[in-house]
Amino acid sequence: MTKVIKNGTVVTADLTYKADVLIDGGKIIEIGPDLSGDEVLDATDCFVMPGGIDPHTHLEMPFMGTYSADDFATGTRAALAGGTTMVVDFCLPSPGDSLLDALKVWDNKSGRAACDYSYHMAITWWGEQVFDDMKTITEEHGINTFKHFMAYKGALMVNDDELYASFKRCAELGATPLVHAENGDVVAELTAKLLAEGNTGPEAHAYSRPPQVEGEATNRAIMIADMAGAPLYVVHTSCEESHEAIRRAKMQGKRVWGEPLVQHLVLDESEYFNEDWDHAARRVMSPPFRNKQHQDSLWAGLASGTLSCVATDHCAFTTDQKRYGVGDFSKIPNGTGGLEDRLPVLWTYGVETGRITMNEFVAVTSTNIAKILNCYPKKGAILVGADADIVVMDPNAKKTISASTQASAIDYNVFEGVEVSATPRYVLTRGYVAVDNGELKAKEGHGEFVARDPNGTVNTALSKWKDLTAPRPVERTGIPATGV
Ligand code: URP
Ligand code: ZN
Ligand code: ZN
Ligand code: ZN
Repeated sequence: MTKVIKNGTVVTADLTYKADVLIDGGKIIEIGPDLSGDEVLDATDCFVMPGGIDPHTHLEMPFMGTYSADDFATGTRAALAGGTTMVVDFCLPSPGDSLLDALKVWDNKSGRAACDYSYHMAITWWGEQVFDDMKTITEEHGINTFKHFMAYKGALMVNDDELYASFKRCAELGATPLVHAENGDVVAELTAKLLAEGNTGPEAHAYSRPPQVEGEATNRAIMIADMAGAPLYVVHTSCEESHEAIRRAKMQGKRVWGEPLVQHLVLDESEYFNEDWDHAARRVMSPPFRNKQHQDSLWAGLASGTLSCVATDHCAFTTDQKRYGVGDFSKIPNGTGGLEDRLPVLWTYGVETGRITMNEFVAVTSTNIAKILNCYPKKGAILVGADADIVVMDPNAKKTISASTQASAIDYNVFEGVEVSATPRYVLTRGYVAVDNGELKAKEGHGEFVARDPNGTVNTALSKWKDLTAPRPVERTGIPATGV
Protein backbone atom coordinates (compact mmCIF):
# COMPACT_ATOMS: atom_id res chain seq x y z
CA MET A 1 0.00 0.00 0.00
CA THR A 2 1.49 3.30 -1.06
CA LYS A 3 0.98 6.59 0.77
CA VAL A 4 1.28 10.03 -0.74
CA ILE A 5 1.78 13.33 1.06
CA LYS A 6 0.06 15.86 -1.18
CA ASN A 7 -0.09 19.65 -1.63
CA GLY A 8 2.68 20.45 0.85
CA THR A 9 5.92 22.42 0.65
CA VAL A 10 9.01 20.27 1.06
CA VAL A 11 11.59 21.91 3.32
CA THR A 12 15.05 20.39 3.56
CA ALA A 13 18.34 21.68 4.94
CA ASP A 14 19.03 23.43 1.62
CA LEU A 15 15.82 23.66 -0.42
CA THR A 16 12.18 24.77 -0.17
CA TYR A 17 9.82 23.67 -2.98
CA LYS A 18 6.29 22.49 -3.72
CA ALA A 19 6.08 18.72 -4.26
CA ASP A 20 4.22 15.57 -3.33
CA VAL A 21 6.06 12.71 -1.64
CA LEU A 22 5.26 9.08 -2.45
CA ILE A 23 6.06 6.34 0.06
CA ASP A 24 6.19 2.58 -0.15
CA GLY A 25 7.81 -0.10 1.96
CA GLY A 26 8.81 2.45 4.58
CA LYS A 27 10.86 4.48 2.10
CA ILE A 28 10.43 7.54 -0.07
CA ILE A 29 10.07 6.27 -3.64
CA GLU A 30 9.19 9.42 -5.59
CA ILE A 31 9.12 13.21 -5.11
CA GLY A 32 7.39 15.47 -7.62
CA PRO A 33 4.18 17.15 -8.77
CA ASP A 34 0.77 15.45 -8.98
CA LEU A 35 1.66 12.08 -7.50
CA SER A 36 -1.02 9.61 -6.47
CA GLY A 37 -1.05 6.75 -3.97
CA ASP A 38 -3.38 4.36 -2.17
CA GLU A 39 -3.64 6.59 0.90
CA VAL A 40 -3.54 10.39 0.72
CA LEU A 41 -2.19 12.60 3.53
CA ASP A 42 -3.17 16.18 2.87
CA ALA A 43 -0.37 18.66 3.59
CA THR A 44 -2.08 21.82 2.31
CA ASP A 45 -0.47 24.87 3.99
CA CYS A 46 2.06 22.59 5.72
CA PHE A 47 5.82 22.03 5.53
CA VAL A 48 7.03 18.51 4.75
CA MET A 49 10.35 18.01 6.51
CA PRO A 50 12.70 15.19 7.57
CA GLY A 51 11.56 13.82 10.93
CA GLY A 52 13.49 15.19 13.87
CA ILE A 53 16.49 13.31 15.20
CA ASP A 54 17.20 13.85 18.88
CA PRO A 55 20.84 12.87 19.37
CA HIS A 56 20.72 13.07 23.15
CA THR A 57 18.22 11.14 25.29
CA HIS A 58 18.42 9.14 28.52
CA LEU A 59 15.50 6.70 28.59
CA GLU A 60 15.13 4.50 31.68
CA MET A 61 18.65 5.45 32.69
CA PRO A 62 20.01 4.46 36.11
CA PHE A 63 21.26 7.75 37.53
CA MET A 64 21.71 9.37 40.96
CA GLY A 65 20.05 6.51 42.82
CA THR A 66 17.01 6.16 40.58
CA TYR A 67 15.92 5.59 36.97
CA SER A 68 14.78 8.31 34.57
CA ALA A 69 11.01 8.01 34.33
CA ASP A 70 10.45 7.91 30.57
CA ASP A 71 11.41 4.55 29.11
CA PHE A 72 11.74 3.58 25.45
CA ALA A 73 7.94 3.18 25.19
CA THR A 74 6.82 6.50 26.69
CA GLY A 75 9.91 8.42 25.57
CA THR A 76 9.58 7.50 21.90
CA ARG A 77 5.80 8.13 22.03
CA ALA A 78 6.61 11.60 23.26
CA ALA A 79 9.21 11.96 20.51
CA LEU A 80 6.74 11.04 17.78
CA ALA A 81 4.03 13.30 19.23
CA GLY A 82 6.40 16.21 18.64
CA GLY A 83 7.74 15.22 15.22
CA THR A 84 10.91 13.44 16.28
CA THR A 85 11.34 10.11 14.48
CA MET A 86 14.71 8.95 15.78
CA VAL A 87 16.42 9.17 19.16
CA VAL A 88 20.00 8.38 20.09
CA ASP A 89 20.23 7.11 23.64
CA PHE A 90 23.29 6.68 25.84
CA CYS A 91 24.21 3.10 26.66
CA LEU A 92 25.80 3.38 30.08
CA PRO A 93 28.08 0.69 31.56
CA SER A 94 28.70 1.07 35.28
CA PRO A 95 32.38 1.69 35.99
CA GLY A 96 34.08 -1.72 35.82
CA ASP A 97 31.41 -3.30 33.60
CA SER A 98 31.90 -4.53 30.06
CA LEU A 99 30.52 -2.41 27.22
CA LEU A 100 28.97 -5.50 25.66
CA ASP A 101 27.03 -6.33 28.82
CA ALA A 102 25.70 -2.77 28.96
CA LEU A 103 24.63 -3.09 25.34
CA LYS A 104 22.58 -6.20 26.22
CA VAL A 105 20.82 -4.24 28.96
CA TRP A 106 19.96 -1.43 26.52
CA ASP A 107 18.82 -3.91 23.85
CA ASN A 108 16.38 -5.37 26.39
CA LYS A 109 14.86 -1.96 27.03
CA SER A 110 14.74 -0.60 23.49
CA GLY A 111 12.49 -3.33 22.06
CA ARG A 112 9.53 -1.20 23.13
CA ALA A 113 10.54 1.83 21.07
CA ALA A 114 7.89 3.31 18.79
CA CYS A 115 10.41 5.15 16.60
CA ASP A 116 13.86 4.25 15.35
CA TYR A 117 16.80 4.62 17.68
CA SER A 118 20.53 4.27 17.92
CA TYR A 119 23.05 4.35 20.78
CA HIS A 120 26.11 6.23 21.88
CA MET A 121 28.30 4.07 24.13
CA ALA A 122 29.56 5.72 27.33
CA ILE A 123 33.16 5.26 28.48
CA THR A 124 32.86 5.43 32.26
CA TRP A 125 36.17 3.77 33.13
CA TRP A 126 39.35 2.72 31.35
CA GLY A 127 41.18 -0.56 30.98
CA GLU A 128 42.22 -3.22 28.48
CA GLN A 129 38.71 -4.63 28.37
CA VAL A 130 37.24 -1.25 27.41
CA PHE A 131 39.96 -0.81 24.79
CA ASP A 132 39.05 -4.20 23.27
CA ASP A 133 35.28 -3.79 23.63
CA MET A 134 35.40 -0.46 21.76
CA LYS A 135 36.55 -2.28 18.63
CA THR A 136 33.80 -4.90 18.89
CA ILE A 137 31.18 -2.23 19.57
CA THR A 138 32.29 -0.21 16.55
CA GLU A 139 32.86 -3.03 14.09
CA GLU A 140 30.09 -5.44 15.05
CA HIS A 141 27.37 -3.42 16.79
CA GLY A 142 26.80 -0.34 14.67
CA ILE A 143 27.91 2.26 17.22
CA ASN A 144 30.43 4.87 16.08
CA THR A 145 30.15 7.38 18.95
CA PHE A 146 31.58 7.18 22.49
CA LYS A 147 30.48 9.48 25.29
CA HIS A 148 32.71 10.76 28.10
CA PHE A 149 31.57 12.52 31.26
CA MET A 150 34.05 15.12 32.53
CA ALA A 151 31.67 15.74 35.46
CA TYR A 152 29.88 13.56 38.04
CA LYS A 153 33.04 12.94 40.08
CA GLY A 154 33.04 9.61 41.88
CA ALA A 155 30.39 8.22 39.54
CA LEU A 156 30.67 8.54 35.76
CA MET A 157 33.57 11.01 35.49
CA VAL A 158 36.74 10.11 33.60
CA ASN A 159 40.08 11.90 33.93
CA ASP A 160 42.34 13.46 31.30
CA ASP A 161 44.55 10.38 30.86
CA GLU A 162 41.43 8.28 30.28
CA LEU A 163 40.03 10.86 27.87
CA TYR A 164 43.24 10.89 25.89
CA ALA A 165 43.43 7.08 25.75
CA SER A 166 39.81 6.76 24.70
CA PHE A 167 39.95 9.58 22.15
CA LYS A 168 43.04 7.95 20.58
CA ARG A 169 41.14 4.66 20.40
CA CYS A 170 38.23 6.48 18.73
CA ALA A 171 40.63 7.93 16.17
CA GLU A 172 42.02 4.45 15.39
CA LEU A 173 38.54 2.99 14.99
CA GLY A 174 37.11 5.84 12.92
CA ALA A 175 34.68 6.69 15.72
CA THR A 176 33.76 10.06 17.21
CA PRO A 177 34.09 10.92 20.91
CA LEU A 178 31.40 12.96 22.68
CA VAL A 179 31.92 14.90 25.90
CA HIS A 180 29.80 16.21 28.72
CA ALA A 181 32.14 19.12 29.34
CA GLU A 182 32.16 20.40 32.92
CA ASN A 183 35.18 20.41 35.24
CA GLY A 184 33.97 17.77 37.71
CA ASP A 185 36.73 18.45 40.26
CA VAL A 186 35.78 22.11 40.56
CA VAL A 187 32.05 21.31 40.62
CA ALA A 188 32.67 18.91 43.54
CA GLU A 189 34.61 21.61 45.45
CA LEU A 190 31.99 24.29 44.81
CA THR A 191 29.19 21.90 45.81
CA ALA A 192 30.84 21.04 49.13
CA LYS A 193 31.47 24.74 49.87
CA LEU A 194 27.90 25.78 49.05
CA LEU A 195 26.41 23.02 51.20
CA ALA A 196 28.74 23.88 54.10
CA GLU A 197 27.58 27.49 53.90
CA GLY A 198 23.93 26.49 54.10
CA ASN A 199 23.15 26.86 50.39
CA THR A 200 21.09 23.71 50.12
CA GLY A 201 18.27 24.74 47.74
CA PRO A 202 18.03 24.09 43.99
CA GLU A 203 19.38 27.58 43.16
CA ALA A 204 22.74 26.41 44.54
CA HIS A 205 22.88 23.81 41.75
CA ALA A 206 23.37 26.69 39.30
CA TYR A 207 26.00 28.33 41.54
CA SER A 208 27.91 25.04 41.69
CA ARG A 209 28.25 24.86 37.89
CA PRO A 210 29.14 28.34 36.57
CA PRO A 211 29.94 28.86 32.87
CA GLN A 212 33.67 28.76 33.64
CA VAL A 213 33.56 25.05 34.56
CA GLU A 214 31.97 24.35 31.20
CA GLY A 215 34.22 26.65 29.18
CA GLU A 216 37.36 25.20 30.75
CA ALA A 217 36.31 21.59 30.20
CA THR A 218 35.16 22.23 26.63
CA ASN A 219 38.50 23.79 25.74
CA ARG A 220 40.40 20.97 27.47
CA ALA A 221 38.42 18.29 25.64
CA ILE A 222 38.99 20.07 22.31
CA MET A 223 42.74 20.22 22.87
CA ILE A 224 42.92 16.58 23.99
CA ALA A 225 40.89 15.47 20.97
CA ASP A 226 43.19 17.44 18.68
CA MET A 227 46.27 15.80 20.19
CA ALA A 228 44.59 12.39 19.91
CA GLY A 229 43.66 13.01 16.27
CA ALA A 230 39.91 12.64 16.84
CA PRO A 231 36.97 14.88 15.96
CA LEU A 232 34.84 15.93 18.93
CA TYR A 233 31.13 16.43 19.58
CA VAL A 234 30.33 18.57 22.63
CA VAL A 235 26.90 17.75 24.09
CA HIS A 236 24.63 20.28 25.78
CA THR A 237 26.66 23.42 25.01
CA SER A 238 24.96 25.95 27.26
CA CYS A 239 27.13 29.06 27.49
CA GLU A 240 29.27 31.57 25.62
CA GLU A 241 32.49 30.25 27.23
CA SER A 242 31.92 26.80 25.77
CA HIS A 243 30.62 28.16 22.46
CA GLU A 244 33.69 30.41 22.26
CA ALA A 245 36.01 27.42 22.61
CA ILE A 246 34.08 25.53 19.91
CA ARG A 247 33.99 28.57 17.63
CA ARG A 248 37.72 29.14 17.98
CA ALA A 249 38.45 25.48 17.31
CA LYS A 250 36.30 25.46 14.19
CA MET A 251 38.03 28.58 12.87
CA GLN A 252 41.34 26.73 13.34
CA GLY A 253 40.10 23.84 11.22
CA LYS A 254 39.53 21.46 14.12
CA ARG A 255 36.60 19.10 13.62
CA VAL A 256 34.39 20.06 16.55
CA TRP A 257 30.61 20.28 16.84
CA GLY A 258 28.44 21.88 19.55
CA GLU A 259 24.94 20.88 20.59
CA PRO A 260 22.73 23.40 22.40
CA LEU A 261 19.55 22.09 24.02
CA VAL A 262 16.17 23.64 23.32
CA GLN A 263 15.78 24.16 27.08
CA HIS A 264 18.94 26.30 27.25
CA LEU A 265 17.84 28.35 24.24
CA VAL A 266 14.51 29.29 25.81
CA LEU A 267 14.59 28.92 29.61
CA ASP A 268 16.91 30.97 31.80
CA GLU A 269 18.50 30.87 35.25
CA SER A 270 15.64 32.80 36.86
CA GLU A 271 13.79 29.45 37.02
CA TYR A 272 16.06 28.43 39.90
CA PHE A 273 15.03 31.45 41.98
CA ASN A 274 11.35 30.55 41.90
CA GLU A 275 10.01 30.41 45.46
CA ASP A 276 8.36 27.07 44.82
CA TRP A 277 11.00 24.39 45.61
CA ASP A 278 9.41 21.91 43.21
CA HIS A 279 9.39 24.42 40.36
CA ALA A 280 13.11 25.07 40.75
CA ALA A 281 14.10 21.44 41.36
CA ARG A 282 12.21 20.24 38.30
CA ARG A 283 14.55 22.40 36.24
CA VAL A 284 17.76 21.14 37.82
CA MET A 285 19.97 19.78 35.09
CA SER A 286 23.63 19.94 34.16
CA PRO A 287 24.73 22.31 32.82
CA PRO A 288 22.12 24.58 34.41
CA PHE A 289 20.03 27.16 32.59
CA ARG A 290 21.97 30.40 31.93
CA ASN A 291 21.20 34.09 31.45
CA LYS A 292 20.01 35.90 28.31
CA GLN A 293 23.54 36.76 27.08
CA HIS A 294 24.39 33.07 26.94
CA GLN A 295 21.12 32.35 25.16
CA ASP A 296 21.92 35.02 22.55
CA SER A 297 25.30 33.39 22.00
CA LEU A 298 23.66 29.99 21.39
CA TRP A 299 21.14 31.43 18.92
CA ALA A 300 23.96 33.20 17.10
CA GLY A 301 25.82 29.90 16.93
CA LEU A 302 22.87 28.22 15.26
CA ALA A 303 22.48 31.04 12.75
CA SER A 304 26.19 31.18 11.93
CA GLY A 305 26.80 27.44 11.92
CA THR A 306 29.31 27.40 14.77
CA LEU A 307 26.77 25.28 16.69
CA SER A 308 25.34 22.35 14.80
CA CYS A 309 22.47 20.46 16.42
CA VAL A 310 19.62 21.17 18.83
CA ALA A 311 18.91 18.29 21.23
CA THR A 312 16.93 17.82 24.47
CA ASP A 313 19.08 15.59 26.73
CA HIS A 314 15.65 14.20 27.65
CA CYS A 315 16.20 12.72 31.12
CA ALA A 316 12.85 13.06 32.84
CA PHE A 317 12.34 12.63 36.59
CA THR A 318 9.03 12.91 38.42
CA THR A 319 8.46 15.48 41.15
CA ASP A 320 8.74 12.69 43.73
CA GLN A 321 12.13 11.74 42.35
CA LYS A 322 13.28 15.38 42.37
CA ARG A 323 12.36 15.51 46.07
CA TYR A 324 15.23 13.12 46.90
CA GLY A 325 17.17 16.36 47.05
CA VAL A 326 15.12 18.28 49.62
CA GLY A 327 17.73 19.70 52.02
CA ASP A 328 20.65 18.90 49.69
CA PHE A 329 20.58 20.16 46.10
CA SER A 330 23.35 17.77 45.10
CA LYS A 331 20.92 14.87 45.52
CA ILE A 332 18.28 16.26 43.13
CA PRO A 333 18.38 13.91 40.12
CA ASN A 334 19.84 15.96 37.25
CA GLY A 335 17.73 16.12 34.12
CA THR A 336 14.78 17.67 32.31
CA GLY A 337 12.35 16.58 29.62
CA GLY A 338 11.69 18.10 26.20
CA LEU A 339 11.46 15.34 23.57
CA GLU A 340 7.87 16.17 22.67
CA ASP A 341 8.45 19.92 22.65
CA ARG A 342 11.78 20.35 20.84
CA LEU A 343 10.45 20.93 17.34
CA PRO A 344 7.41 23.11 18.17
CA VAL A 345 9.39 25.22 20.67
CA LEU A 346 12.38 25.69 18.36
CA TRP A 347 10.04 26.57 15.50
CA THR A 348 8.20 29.13 17.63
CA TYR A 349 11.26 30.78 19.19
CA GLY A 350 13.56 30.29 16.20
CA VAL A 351 11.72 30.31 12.87
CA GLU A 352 8.75 32.48 13.90
CA THR A 353 11.08 35.14 15.31
CA GLY A 354 13.45 35.08 12.32
CA ARG A 355 16.42 33.94 14.41
CA ILE A 356 16.85 30.95 12.08
CA THR A 357 15.45 30.02 8.68
CA MET A 358 13.21 27.00 8.03
CA ASN A 359 16.12 25.32 6.28
CA GLU A 360 18.41 25.96 9.24
CA PHE A 361 15.66 24.52 11.43
CA VAL A 362 15.79 21.26 9.44
CA ALA A 363 19.57 21.28 9.51
CA VAL A 364 19.85 21.64 13.30
CA THR A 365 16.98 19.30 14.20
CA SER A 366 17.77 16.50 11.75
CA THR A 367 20.14 16.70 8.80
CA ASN A 368 23.34 17.87 10.50
CA ILE A 369 23.26 15.16 13.13
CA ALA A 370 22.43 12.48 10.54
CA LYS A 371 25.63 13.48 8.73
CA ILE A 372 27.72 13.66 11.92
CA LEU A 373 26.47 10.24 13.04
CA ASN A 374 27.00 8.75 9.56
CA CYS A 375 23.40 7.71 8.92
CA TYR A 376 22.62 10.28 6.20
CA PRO A 377 20.66 10.07 3.88
CA LYS A 378 18.89 7.02 5.35
CA LYS A 379 17.87 9.51 8.04
CA GLY A 380 17.66 13.30 7.97
CA ALA A 381 16.62 13.61 4.32
CA ILE A 382 13.64 13.98 2.02
CA LEU A 383 15.20 12.10 -0.89
CA VAL A 384 14.24 9.09 -2.97
CA GLY A 385 15.55 6.02 -1.13
CA ALA A 386 15.58 7.67 2.31
CA ASP A 387 13.53 6.20 5.15
CA ALA A 388 10.05 7.75 5.20
CA ASP A 389 10.69 9.48 8.55
CA ILE A 390 8.74 12.64 7.91
CA VAL A 391 7.08 15.42 9.88
CA VAL A 392 4.32 17.42 8.21
CA MET A 393 4.42 20.60 10.24
CA ASP A 394 1.35 22.82 10.34
CA PRO A 395 2.58 26.38 11.00
CA ASN A 396 -0.92 27.47 11.96
CA ALA A 397 -1.79 24.73 14.47
CA LYS A 398 -1.16 26.40 17.80
CA LYS A 399 -0.99 24.55 21.10
CA THR A 400 -0.35 25.48 24.71
CA ILE A 401 2.15 23.07 26.24
CA SER A 402 0.78 21.32 29.30
CA ALA A 403 1.73 18.29 31.37
CA SER A 404 -1.93 17.33 31.37
CA THR A 405 -1.84 16.52 27.65
CA GLN A 406 1.74 15.34 27.12
CA ALA A 407 2.87 11.83 26.20
CA SER A 408 5.83 11.86 28.60
CA ALA A 409 5.30 9.89 31.82
CA ILE A 410 6.23 12.70 34.22
CA ASP A 411 3.83 14.96 36.11
CA TYR A 412 5.06 18.37 34.90
CA ASN A 413 6.61 20.06 31.88
CA VAL A 414 9.38 22.66 32.02
CA PHE A 415 7.63 24.49 29.15
CA GLU A 416 4.22 24.49 30.90
CA GLY A 417 2.03 27.30 29.54
CA VAL A 418 4.22 28.10 26.53
CA GLU A 419 2.11 28.66 23.43
CA VAL A 420 3.72 27.11 20.37
CA SER A 421 2.68 28.30 16.93
CA ALA A 422 3.30 25.07 14.99
CA THR A 423 2.55 21.42 15.65
CA PRO A 424 2.73 18.27 13.51
CA ARG A 425 -0.29 17.34 11.39
CA TYR A 426 1.33 14.04 10.41
CA VAL A 427 4.40 12.20 11.63
CA LEU A 428 5.61 9.14 9.74
CA THR A 429 8.13 6.65 11.06
CA ARG A 430 9.38 4.47 8.17
CA GLY A 431 6.04 5.04 6.48
CA TYR A 432 3.85 4.24 9.49
CA VAL A 433 1.60 7.20 10.34
CA ALA A 434 2.27 7.73 14.06
CA VAL A 435 0.58 11.13 14.20
CA ASP A 436 -2.52 11.19 12.02
CA ASN A 437 -4.18 14.56 11.60
CA GLY A 438 -2.84 15.57 15.00
CA GLU A 439 -3.84 12.31 16.71
CA LEU A 440 -1.08 10.20 18.28
CA LYS A 441 -1.09 6.57 17.10
CA ALA A 442 2.43 5.52 18.06
CA LYS A 443 2.94 1.76 17.92
CA GLU A 444 5.06 0.26 20.68
CA GLY A 445 7.79 -1.97 19.26
CA HIS A 446 7.72 -0.43 15.76
CA GLY A 447 11.14 1.17 16.28
CA GLU A 448 14.26 -0.39 14.82
CA PHE A 449 17.91 -0.01 15.73
CA VAL A 450 19.86 2.19 13.30
CA ALA A 451 23.35 0.77 12.83
CA ARG A 452 26.01 3.37 12.05
CA ASP A 453 29.32 2.53 10.40
CA PRO A 454 32.62 4.05 11.50
CA ASN A 455 34.95 6.02 9.22
CA GLY A 456 32.53 8.75 8.18
CA THR A 457 33.83 11.37 5.77
CA VAL A 458 35.10 13.71 8.50
CA ASN A 459 36.85 10.90 10.39
CA THR A 460 38.52 9.78 7.18
CA ALA A 461 39.64 13.27 6.17
CA LEU A 462 40.93 14.07 9.66
CA SER A 463 42.92 10.84 9.96
CA LYS A 464 44.48 11.49 6.54
CA TRP A 465 45.52 15.00 7.64
CA LYS A 466 46.82 13.79 11.00
CA ASP A 467 48.89 11.09 9.24
CA LEU A 468 50.30 13.61 6.83
CA THR A 469 51.28 16.03 9.60
CA ALA A 470 52.44 13.43 12.16
CA PRO A 471 55.98 13.72 13.60
CA ARG A 472 58.59 12.07 11.39
CA PRO A 473 62.32 11.69 11.88
CA VAL A 474 64.35 14.01 9.63
CA GLU A 475 66.32 12.10 6.98
CA ARG A 476 69.85 13.50 7.58
CA THR A 477 72.81 13.29 5.30
CA GLY A 478 75.40 13.19 8.01
CA ILE A 479 75.23 12.27 11.66
CA PRO A 480 78.14 13.39 13.82
CA ALA A 481 79.98 10.71 15.72
CA THR A 482 78.93 10.55 19.39
CA GLY A 483 81.11 12.88 21.37
CA VAL A 484 83.79 11.57 23.69
O1 URP B 1 21.38 16.92 33.92
C1 URP B 1 21.52 16.15 32.98
N1 URP B 1 21.99 16.63 31.86
N2 URP B 1 21.17 14.86 33.13
C2 URP B 1 21.37 13.82 32.21
C3 URP B 1 22.77 13.30 32.24
C4 URP B 1 23.69 14.20 31.49
O2 URP B 1 24.58 14.78 32.08
O3 URP B 1 23.55 14.36 30.28
ZN1 ZN C 1 3.13 -1.15 -0.07
ZN1 ZN D 1 25.53 15.46 30.33
ZN1 ZN E 1 22.73 13.77 28.76
